[in-house]
Amino acid sequence: MTRLFEEYRQFIPDFDFFLESLRTPLPNHLRVNRLKTCPASVIAMLQAKGIPMRPAGVGDDTLYEAPRALLPGKLLEYFLGYIHPQALTSCMASLVLAPRPNSLVLDLCAAPGGKTSHLAQLMANTGIIVANELHLRRHAPLIHTLSRLGVLNAVLTAYPAQEFPLRESFDFIMADVPCSGEGRWRFSREPYAAEESKYRIAMAEAQKRMILRGFDLLKKQGIMVYSTCTYSPTENESVLDFLLKHRDAELVSFDNVPGMEQGISQWRKETYDGRVRGAGRFYPHRIDSVGFFMAKIRRRG
Ligand SMILES: C[S@@+](CC[C@H](N)C(=O)[O-])C[C@H]1O[C@@H](n2cnc3c(N)ncnc32)[C@H](O)[C@@H]1O
Repeated sequence: MTRLFEEYRQFIPDFDFFLESLRTPLPNHLRVNRLKTCPASVIAMLQAKGIPMRPAGVGDDTLYEAPRALLPGKLLEYFLGYIHPQALTSCMASLVLAPRPNSLVLDLCAAPGGKTSHLAQLMANTGIIVANELHLRRHAPLIHTLSRLGVLNAVLTAYPAQEFPLRESFDFIMADVPCSGEGRWRFSREPYAAEESKYRIAMAEAQKRMILRGFDLLKKQGIMVYSTCTYSPTENESVLDFLLKHRDAELVSFDNVPGMEQGISQWRKETYDGRVRGAGRFYPHRIDSVGFFMAKIRRRG
């Protein structure tokens, strides 16, 4: 695994600490679901069972770190929909998108519903979220997440994100696209694709079509978050650069997120639009979670 990432030494700061962090398992982060309860009650319930919850330290009072050995899916609080196990960086994406209550939201690639349910929480179950997921086999886990967590403002669709119908325009769009998933390769997870594979190239082509369609679905002044859980610039800045070349898009800064590094504007023989530096990269030695990338994009009006 470390050999696979060696090429990233040129842009990941403190690269040896990065490699070291990959040898530790992912932490157990939990989101308290405000649609059903409040942080103080959940913490008290878990403490009564001898389960300590530490604030995740990112300035949001619904995010906590539980002991690594805990299996949250076995807790009554999980079945009641009071908590949702979710990577900290995944939660940051919904916080950065920050959808307003009563707005019209599209989640382009929704299953298993971690971000959809978080968006519903931030909107206090108002407005409408169109939760789109291409693969029907993933609709069961998506519906399970939404119903367990008491989400009442979502409707489901099953279009390819890159061909989502241009009938409606949205105030906010979450484009958490399928990716090679390098950010999850920690401890026992092994990589399943090499950087140069055809699979990776096809993935980046699909991501470019998805970011373009997402942008075209925005209202004027609408906001989109493009995110992946991978380090590869081919799936991140290169895709963002493609959008900036083809559309009148603006990058919105969000530098209040802890542990964030800026996007990179050069990779191999490519030089990207300098604005891609306004995107955020998240590494496990900076924020102990799944490696992540996100960009906040506004459609000019
Ligand atoms: C990174 S996951 C989304 C995770 C989800 N946003 C969450 O937070 O729980 C990407 C999802 O996109 C779905 N997907 C793959 N290709 C797609 C496509 N062309 N259009 C829409 N969804 C697609 C995958 O099945 C997968 O569920």
